[in-house]
Amino acid sequence: MKLYENHVLPHLINYACGLPAIEKQRKKVVPMAEGRVLEIGMGSGLNLKFYDREKVEFVWGLEPSKGMRRKAGKNLEASPVEVRWLDLPGEEVPLDDKSADTVMLTYSLCTIEGWLKALGEMRRVLKPGGKLIFCEHGEAPDADVRKWQERINPVWKKIAGGCDLNRKIPRCIEEGGFRIRDMESDYVDSPRFASFEYWGVAD
Ligand SMILES: C[S@@+](CC[C@H](N)C(=O)[O-])C[C@H]1O[C@@H](n2cnc3c(N)ncnc32)[C@H](O)[C@@H]1O
Repeated sequence: MKLYENHVLPHLINYACGLPAIEKQRKKVVPMAEGRVLEIGMGSGLNLKFYDREKVEFVWGLEPSKGMRRKAGKNLEASPVEVRWLDLPGEEVPLDDKSADTVMLTYSLCTIEGWLKALGEMRRVLKPGGKLIFCEHGEAPDADVRKWQERINPVWKKIAGGCDLNRKIPRCIEEGGFRIRDMESDYVDSPRFASFEYWGVAD
């Protein structure tokens, strides 16, 4: 299993998360980041090229998987902004209270086992007036799609590194102590069971 997680999964995630429909989503949210940014579950660094270097001081890239950090090599080299790695999970953010201006959460909340604790950590490290920018796939609004999400989820979780297909993203964010200020949601691609997304800003 370790071989799969460290050497196969990073390539699969990098491919799936780099598809054109997902890139289009990244373009909508990542340029809103400013100041000191904490990215939760940075993965292979697919957001990096969308940061506005005029607005971003640097990015803390929190990523617990060694395989994903290795896969990020090329994107790191080409990054317009400085990246400081934090090799811990989102449940244990090693930063002081009120130290980040932006928390960036893209396609990671689905995978974080202790999502409530992790959101509490994001809340803790965010400065007053700072913002949580999110773009996540989750529970679909249509009953037929939700049925497929439930059916597929047990197998999907095993092959996709623990990713939950049907997390109730807005509810998770609000239970984590944030107020959603602005949010859109829609199917952004196919298959529909994995492509209903929620994106926006919370504080
Ligand atoms: C689907 S990938 C998304 C990566 C990246 N955020 C993106 O937008 O491409 C999910 C990432 O969450 C990471 N992850 C898994 N468990 C985590 C945890 N407990 N805390 C933080 N990140 C975690 C995985 O290692 C993986 O890199």
